[in-house]
Amino acid sequence: MALHFRRGTAADVPALIPMVVAQYALHAAWDAAKFAPRPDFEKGYARWLAARATDPRSVLFVAEVETDAPAPAVLAGFIVATTETEIPVYLTRDYGFLHELFVQPDYRNEGAARQLVTLTVEAFRDLGVTQVRCEAAWLNGPARGLFQRCGFREVAITLIHGA
Ligand SMILES: CC(C)(COP(=O)(O)OP(=O)(O)OC[C@H]1O[C@@H](n2cnc3c(N)ncnc32)[C@H](O)[C@@H]1OP(=O)(O)O)[C@@H](O)C(=O)NCCC(=O)NCCS
Repeated sequence: MALHFRRGTAADVPALIPMVVAQYALHAAWDAAKFAPRPDFEKGYARWLAARATDPRSVLFVAEVETDAPAPAVLAGFIVATTETEIPVYLTRDYGFLHELFVQPDYRNEGAARQLVTLTVEAFRDLGVTQVRCEAAWLNGPARGLFQRCGFREVAITLIHGA
């Protein structure tokens, strides 16, 4: 089914939260010490995500399933990113940081994530932010494959000792 890519709004947030929950569960299964969220994280996350929709230095895109049916929108995926600032020892100051990227299983392998990442990189460029970063779990082969195909390079690994 065809997808329409557009900026996300606060009204999209309730449909996005189940994807956020799935995303965190997937990562927590890989390493709970690094990725497990607090049991009550959903409400706070929903507030944070709604604020991203109107923050001029944040980027929120959704992939909406094209349908003739009236609302509500059916969302196949989303991406959310913020502008972050490095401490002043680095040449690079501002950079875009991808916090979440999720495509519903039924819509994978059709280029949705690539389109969401491309739109986000372009949106940051329009903000004057020319570097975009993200973190991918070591065990997340699909994400690492995707980001490499989108032109990202792997530059660091996170090492954790203890719980
Ligand atoms: C990772 C994820 C976002 C990919 O979404 P998608 O819409 O299926 O990806 P796309 O169809 O846009 O694929 C784009 C590129 O990524 C690569 N890719 C996608 N899935 C892959 C996989 N399982 N293994 C290796 N590469 C993969 C593809 O090869 C494709 O490149 P190509 O078109 O040049 O062949 C999706 O699997 C997902 O939501 N996973 C769960 C959440 C997650 O891990 N998010 C990332 C957190 S950092």
